[in-house]
Amino acid sequence: MRTSRAAAAAASLPLLLLVALLVAAEGRRHKDGSGDEEAKACDKGWECSGSRFCCNDTITDYFKAYQFEELFAHRNDRSLAHAAGFWDYHAFITAAALFEPRGFGTTGGKEVGMKEVAAFLGHVGAKTSCGYSVATGGPLAWGLCYNHELSPSQSYCDNSNELYPCVEGVEYYGRGALPVYWNYNYGIIGQGIKQDLLNHPELLEQNATLAFEAAIWRWMTPMKRKQPSAHDVFVGNWKPTKNDTLSKRYPGFGATMNILYGDLICGQGSIDKMNVIVSHYQHYLDLMGVGSDKAGDNLDCADQVAFNPSSKNLDS
Ligand SMILES: *[C@@H]1O[C@H](CO)[C@@H](O)[C@H](O)[C@H]1NC(C)=O
Ligand SMILES: *[C@@H]1O[C@H](CO)[C@@H](O)[C@H](O)[C@H]1NC(C)=O
Ligand SMILES: *[C@@H]1O[C@H](CO)[C@@H](O)[C@H](O)[C@H]1NC(C)=O
Repeated sequence: MRTSRAAAAAASLPLLLLVALLVAAEGRRHKDGSGDEEAKACDKGWECSGSRFCCNDTITDYFKAYQFEELFAHRNDRSLAHAAGFWDYHAFITAAALFEPRGFGTTGGKEVGMKEVAAFLGHVGAKTSCGYSVATGGPLAWGLCYNHELSPSQSYCDNSNELYPCVEGVEYYGRGALPVYWNYNYGIIGQGIKQDLLNHPELLEQNATLAFEAAIWRWMTPMKRKQPSAHDVFVGNWKPTKNDTLSKRYPGFGATMNILYGDLICGQGSIDKMNVIVSHYQHYLDLMGVGSDKAGDNLDCADQVAFNPSSKNLDS
């Protein structure tokens, strides 16, 4: 009697274990929030794994080193470029790999992915350009010319910010791929990419991978709770509310400028500062073979009210 009960218990142990494992697996499947639809994850090695976003094409599938060279053809031109030798494809891809499992360049299929890379790099190119109309290759051929602001007009220290107070002797002028200005922006972005940028903002002009990481983090992260990120408004994750449509904010490239720069760029009509960002995006779409005719609706933000009206934004 005793032995057979013990035997039965021993026999049911593997079964219990199996049930426990199945329950755990079920819990994991629903964690990623994709509802009833089976959320399969895919593994593409170092670039993208453990997420359903990795099941589609990843960035290295459709954006190669030679294309990066075409987009940023003059960045190593030592006669004009101020960050010659700094920026490269490898740094971009290494940084992007941290965000591809979350949907950067991997949302919605290959064409949306290519458009998102062109849009993100369009911002980067416009913000780091030293192009002028007579420069070789035209004004759109000079993205990634800088990695930091050359003649800061101020110290960009906001002493009223208690969360990210300025560190004595440290300067918060513009640095990086989507230049970061102000102590509080270095603070929050540093927290996002797990680097002490408040004490060491110089990392963004010393390490191109970190510079791209900071920029992609900004692209992927809402400025405020309950707001969409630039990524969200671009790939169609965001549905405008009534307030948004009243403020002329619709999904598209224009709204990415609204999120990143607010009223420094948007709601001021067809100004050069806005148009040059749109032009970089369109130019990169052409160079990548997508075509600028696929740039999408709501390309500009000339009439949009800022999501976050104020003077303190990402930009100077
Ligand atoms: C994968 O690509 C298809 C189109 O090719 C798209 O419908 C689907 O949403 C994509 N998956 C994800 C997770 O974005
Ligand atoms: C840049 O930062 C990355 C991420 O922290 C690190 O792995 C890499 O070694 C750094 N590169 C250089 C040249 O310091
Ligand atoms: C509506 O938009 C305006 C301007 O962008 C903003 O100030 C206001 O807080 C918004 N209202 C709501 C309810 O979101």
